[in-house]
Amino acid sequence: MTGLFITFEGGDGAGKSSVLREVGRRLKEEGYPVLETREPGGIEIAEKIRHVILEPSHTAMDGRTEALLYAAARRQHLVEKVIPALEKGMIVLCDRFIDSSLAYQGYARGLGMDDVYRINEFAIEDQMPDLTLFFDITPEEGLARIEANKGREQNRLDLEKIDFHEKVYEAYKKLVECYDRIQVIDARPSIETVSASAYAAITPHLPSDTPGML
Ligand SMILES: Nc1ncnc2c1ncn2[C@@H]1O[C@H](COP(=O)(O)OP(=O)(O)OP(=O)(O)O)[C@@H](O)[C@H]1O
Ligand SMILES: [Mg+2]
Repeated sequence: MTGLFITFEGGDGAGKSSVLREVGRRLKEEGYPVLETREPGGIEIAEKIRHVILEPSHTAMDGRTEALLYAAARRQHLVEKVIPALEKGMIVLCDRFIDSSLAYQGYARGLGMDDVYRINEFAIEDQMPDLTLFFDITPEEGLARIEANKGREQNRLDLEKIDFHEKVYEAYKKLVECYDRIQVIDARPSIETVSASAYAAITPHLPSDTPGML
């Protein structure tokens, strides 16, 4: 009995978390067993690793060390939370996964997508997502949503920040070309419309028999 592993990917403010909640709600309503998660997912070891990465005093942190630590935290979350849920036959909706590391660290931070892929492949083994939804929106629009919803005046985004996010966007576009498991979702319309597109992309992967019998 195996479940369904679906990851949500895209730039900041693309709507991943909002749509994940909505899709999760709808799947549960239909009677499917669903786990909604994001790394480090409340897993103590993964939380501690993340703390090491984010600790402001760790200014000596090397880029590759950081990538390895992210991969380590990812593995622990996978082993402790995702795989047990899949073994129970659940639909796992995960907010960001390997593609985020490939896009942010591999490409935008310049570590190299191939190298970052290799360490993540070691961390994940063969537990790649069954389906990945890429929420497609330009960084300008995505970041503007975040700004708008902070209740602040919309700031002019500084050039370096935009440049970085443009690279992330470019990386995701490359990943879409490389992997059949990634489906592009137009993330520009309303949350309702985007959620409906995401749900429609998931539907063909759901078991055709009764919910709960995945
Ligand atoms: N389709 C949409 N239209 C308008 N606003 C949206 C849409 N989707 C999400 N938002 C709003 O944009 C903001 C960012 O959305 P959300 O947190 O879901 O994005 P995210 O992709 O998870 O971002 P992050 O990468 O920063 O976690 C939220 O305030 C949310 O309410
Ligand atoms: Mg989010």
